[in-house]
Amino acid sequence: KGCKLVGCGSAVPSLLISNDDLSKLVDTSDEWISTRTGIRNRRVISGKDSLTGLAADAAKKALEMAEVDPSDVDLILLCTSTPEDLFGSAPQIQKALGCKNNPLAYDITAACSGFVLGLVSAASYIRGGGFNNVLVIGADTLSRYVDWTDRGTCILFGDAAGAVLVQACDGEEDGLFAFDMHSDGDGQRHLNAGIKGNETDHGLGSNGSVLGFDTKNPAYSCIQMNGKEVFRFAVRVVPQSIESALGKAGLPASSIDWLLLHQANQRIIDAVATRLDVPSERVISNLANYGNTSAASIPLALDEAVRSGKVRPGHTIAAAGFGAGLTWGSAIIRW
Ligand code: ACO
Repeated sequence: KGCKLVGCGSAVPSLLISNDDLSKLVDTSDEWISTRTGIRNRRVISGKDSLTGLAADAAKKALEMAEVDPSDVDLILLCTSTPEDLFGSAPQIQKALGCKNNPLAYDITAACSGFVLGLVSAASYIRGGGFNNVLVIGADTLSRYVDWTDRGTCILFGDAAGAVLVQACDGEEDGLFAFDMHSDGDGQRHLNAGIKGNETDHGLGSNGSVLGFDTKNPAYSCIQMNGKEVFRFAVRVVPQSIESALGKAGLPASSIDWLLLHQANQRIIDAVATRLDVPSERVISNLANYGNTSAASIPLALDEAVRSGKVRPGHTIAAAGFGAGLTWGSAIIRW
C-alpha cells in the first residue's frame, strides 16, 4: 500500500513584526539580523489568535485542496511544541473542523523536526493500520516562550501553521519514499525550554506541600539557545540525513527537484545546499517573511511553493527538519 500528499494549506497571524520594530525592543538592527539569518519579518499571534485557530485554518485549506470532507478524516496529528493545553491541542482541531466520525487526534512534540516525524507517523498508520486520510499539521506559537529582551533569540522566531493531507493510494503512486530520523538528548543543553524547578528536589513534603516547584505558577523557561552550537549541529547532521534518506530511496541528490529544509537560518540552508551540490534555484526559502516557525516552517513553505506553481505534480522534494531535542529527520516526497 502507498500513501501520497493530496492537499496542503497554511495560516499565519496578521501582526507583522519587522527587524526595524525589533530594533526598538532590543539592541539590534535590520542589517545584523538580515545578514546573519536572512530574516526580515515575522508574524506573531495577537488578540484572539490561537495555535488551534491557525492549525484549524491550515487544515481546512488542505482538505479543500484535496476535496476531502472533514468526516472522511480518520487521524489528525498535530505536530507542536506549544499546545494550548498541556494534555494536547489536537482534539480541539478535530472539533473545529467538525470531523463527525470522531477521528483519533493527538499531539506530536518534536520541535522543528515535528512535521517530518508526523509524515513518517502518517505513512506508518496508512501502510500498517488501515487508515485512509491523515491530516499532518505543523503549528507553533513560540512567541509565547521567547524572552523578548534576549536579542540572541527573539529575532529568530515567528508563529504559523501548515498542514498536509496524506492519503492511502496504490503502491505505484506512492509519494513518501524514504525517511531518516534521529535524536540526541545530550544536545538538549544547547537548545531547550525546560520546566522551572526541574533542577531542584521535589516531591510531597511532610506537611503535604509540593517541594521544588512554584505550584501557583508552574511554567516553562523561555527558550535558551547556544546559537553557534545549534548552527554547527544543523550543518553537520542535515546533509548526512538527507543523503541517507536519498540512499534508501535509491535516488541521487541530482534527481531532486526541490530542497525544502526547516526554515531556521538562510546560512544553514545555503550551507546544506552547497554540501549536497543543489543549486540555489532548486532551494525553497521563505524565512525572510516568517522567520523560524518551528514545526510549521516546512508545510508553510511547501504550501506557498505549491500555490505559486513552483512545486508541481510529480516533483521530488527532499525535506528535512532539525531542532530542539535535539532531533532531526529527512523525508523524500513526491508531490
Ligand atoms: N543583534 C545584534 N548583535 C547581536 C544579536 C542581535 N540580534 N544577537 C547576538 N549579537 C551579538 C552577540 O552579542 C555577539 O557580540 P560579541 O561578539 O560582542 O560577543 C555577536 O553578535 C555574535 O554573536 P553570535 O551568537 O556568535 O552570532 P552568530 O553569528 O552565531 O549568529 C545566530 C547568531 C543567528 C543565532 C546563529 O548562531 C544561528 O542562527 N544559529 C542557529 C539557530 C537555530 O537555527 N536555531 C534553531 C532553533 S529551532 C528549534 O528547535 C526551536
